[in-house]
Amino acid sequence: MNCLLLYSTQDGQTKKIITRIAENIRRAGISCDLRDLATVKQMNLAPYHKVMVGASIRYGRFNSALHKFVIRHQQQLNQLPTAFFGVNLTARKPEKRTPETNGYVSKFLTKSPWKPDLCDVFAGALLYPRYRWFDRIMIQLIMRMTGGETDTTKEIEYTDWVQVDHFSALFLQMSHQKER
Ligand SMILES: Cc1cc2nc3c(=O)[nH]c(=O)nc-3n(C[C@H](O)[C@H](O)[C@H](O)COP(=O)(O)O)c2cc1C
Repeated sequence: MNCLLLYSTQDGQTKKIITRIAENIRRAGISCDLRDLATVKQMNLAPYHKVMVGASIRYGRFNSALHKFVIRHQQQLNQLPTAFFGVNLTARKPEKRTPETNGYVSKFLTKSPWKPDLCDVFAGALLYPRYRWFDRIMIQLIMRMTGGETDTTKEIEYTDWVQVDHFSALFLQMSHQKER
C-alpha cells in the first residue's frame, strides 16, 4: 500500500504535523509520499491507495493552493479513501477543535466539492518572534480579543500530539477500498 500526504504551510507547523503522521504510517510498514501543495499543480492520484491533505489558516483563509488542488483533483479525491485536517490557533480552545465546531474547517467542508472520509482540526503554533512586524501586531490584536497570549517574546506550540497520533491511527485503520 502507498499513501500520499499533501500539505500547505506558511510557518512550518502543518509540515511538522504531517511529517509526524508520515513517520507513524511508515513505522506501521506502509510507504507514503509527502508533498508540499505549493509545488504540486497536476498529479495523478491513481497510484495511491489513500490520500491525506493538511492545511493551515492565515487571516481566516486556507491557502489558494488547497482550493486549486481540490478543484482540479475532486474526481480522483472522491474516488479514493481520503482524510483532511486543518490547523489554526482558534483550535487552541478544545471546544473549537472538531470539524463541526471549528468555523474554518466546517465552512471548508460545506463548500468543498471533495468530501473527505476522515477529518480533524489541530491547534497550531504561536511564534511571535518569527513573525513580521505587521503580522505580530495583528496576531497580538486577535489574541487580545480572544483571551490568548499577548507576550510577543513567546513561542507556544498548542498542537496536541496525542490527537495527531490518534488521527494517524484512524487513517491507518481506514479501509483502502472506498465504500460506495
Ligand atoms: C499572519 C497570520 C495569520 C493567522 N491568521 C489566523 C486566523 O485567522 N485564525 C486562526 O485561527 N489562526 C490564525 N493564524 C494561526 C496559524 O493558523 C497557526 O500559527 C498555524 O500554526 C500556522 O500553521 P503553518 O505554520 O503550517 O502555516 C495566523 C497566523 C499568522 C502568522
